[in-house]
Amino acid sequence: MPALTLDRLLASIGFGSRKEARALVRMGLVELDGQVVEDPFMEFAERPAAITVNGEEVSTVEKLYVMLHKPEDVECSHNARDHQSVFSLLPDRFTAMGIQTVGRLDADSEGIILLSNQGDFIHKIESPKKGVLKRYRVTLARPFTEAQKAELLKGVMLKDERRPVLARAIEEEAGSVVITIGEGLYHQVRRMFAAVGNHVETLTRISIGNLELDPTLGKGGWRFLTDAEVASF
Ligand code: URA
Repeated sequence: MPALTLDRLLASIGFGSRKEARALVRMGLVELDGQVVEDPFMEFAERPAAITVNGEEVSTVEKLYVMLHKPEDVECSHNARDHQSVFSLLPDRFTAMGIQTVGRLDADSEGIILLSNQGDFIHKIESPKKGVLKRYRVTLARPFTEAQKAELLKGVMLKDERRPVLARAIEEEAGSVVITIGEGLYHQVRRMFAAVGNHVETLTRISIGNLELDPTLGKGGWRFLTDAEVASF
């Protein structure tokens, strides 16, 4: 394996090509432990945990695992058309590092969304075969009846899907229902409530697997997942 030089390190965490990274160093914009580094070919025996670029301390991890609290009116797409892109809530260098969303949330929905640049991690959570459960809190336009609850539990057939999908739904308080599903089909929760004669007004994803939306994250806020959280999948 080639030696880990400063230009390689910077390129691996999204600061452009190695040539562009060398230019940053030559401009005096890169600091390590409070000292400007002048040599772009400086070698590291081990990756430093953090490095300062242009006055901002950044983590040097290459594998990105991020939890973000998606607000409404934000699209889970790199080429958002009608709204702001979810990627604009993260540092630009994450896009250069290949970050993607794990599944999607509609522009109208909010709540927990995971993002990563690791395909196996994304696949593990997205794959319907793995059955990672997702929980959503919804507010409904009409009263949630026992009949609707039973129909959801039995399974409903959605247009263009090959088999019925089922969900456990519990009314927490009048008009606010928590629903748990195992797949991530297009508009699944909204379509399931429509299929039983109701209508979702607001939708917030509150958990994915064992991971709950971190209450310290305000709308649009994000943080890295801990190693234990990554391993929980
Ligand atoms: N189901 C929906 O209908 N919308 C989402 O954003 C997520 C699940």
